[in-house]
Amino acid sequence: HTIESGHFQWSAPSNIALVKYWGKKENHPSLKGELAKQIPANPSVSFTLNTCKTITKLAFAKKKNDTNFSFDLLFEGKPKEDFKPKIQKFLERIALYLPFINDYHFTIDTQNTFPHSSGIASSASGMAALAMNLMSLEKALNPAMTEDYFYSKASFLARLGSGSACRSVKGSLVVWGNQANINGSSDLYGVAYPQAIHDNFKNFQDTILLVDKGEKQVSSTLGHDLMHDHPFAERRFAQAHENLDQLIPIFESGNLNEFIKIVESEALTLHAMMMTSMPYFILMKPNTLEIINTIWKFRNETQIPVCFTLDAGANVHVLYPENVKEKVLQFIKHELVGYCQNGQYLCDEIGNGAERI
Ligand code: PMV
Repeated sequence: HTIESGHFQWSAPSNIALVKYWGKKENHPSLKGELAKQIPANPSVSFTLNTCKTITKLAFAKKKNDTNFSFDLLFEGKPKEDFKPKIQKFLERIALYLPFINDYHFTIDTQNTFPHSSGIASSASGMAALAMNLMSLEKALNPAMTEDYFYSKASFLARLGSGSACRSVKGSLVVWGNQANINGSSDLYGVAYPQAIHDNFKNFQDTILLVDKGEKQVSSTLGHDLMHDHPFAERRFAQAHENLDQLIPIFESGNLNEFIKIVESEALTLHAMMMTSMPYFILMKPNTLEIINTIWKFRNETQIPVCFTLDAGANVHVLYPENVKEKVLQFIKHELVGYCQNGQYLCDEIGNGAERI
């Protein structure tokens, strides 16, 4: 098949890890060069979100004789030069797997449903949305491609843009990284969690409290690198495997008290790794701790199964089942909003993954 020009449009959601990816394998036993990039040191599992997403349109037109790589980038409809180097690096890295990439000029037009610089990382949803579009073009050129190959390769490509992006292709629970007890799990791409999931997790809620919307002081790339000489690295990687194993029966039984223990421990362990690396750093803010303490007090007093998790920043994700939504939102409005920057928070819930528009 040859295609002169056209466009695709996809949305891809953000995701929030329950077991955290923090640290990359330096040398994969069998992979070399670019292929060996962003291989996680431990497996992770995440909830795919529903409303926090990136919407990206990819327009393409065949070039006449120019064989150099070229593209334009628009953010919310306007040229955005400062995002270009990251996308350029991503496209160069994946060119090896998408031989058509040098034959076309691309215009990438992208926007997020969440406010710009809200402290919510758009790299996972952004890289996933771009990967979906590129796979649509590959499928148009090779129509025999199976659905399974399409999604696995989209996740594989997204991973090469930003590790956690590979968990933003599918829903509702996604595993990335080899784990003996999880069929089909892979270090190379995320897969929909293949085992039983209890109804307690159906429409699970994630209210994201925006504590600090500033630029991150330490990038996650640097943070991952600091796990290489980290005194607790090996134990931490083993712990992530153990926590994922423990979550398997919890996902099946819906035991929320056990779920909470693992999820909160994972969040604090992630930040403990940051505080114990050399150089050490702290991404939590005083209000992050105020929120955590207030959630613990509320949970003790009410027995409502609400918990928190954190990503690589100061914002707090408040997680809870749908049947306590009204009570938890009241609690958030009365007791937590005061700790949010400009009183801002975003209501989201578990979602189904990337969608073609
Ligand atoms: O995808 P990266 O390289 O930005 O790393 C993200 C790491 C965490 O968000 C802290 C944890 C995770 O598993 O998403």
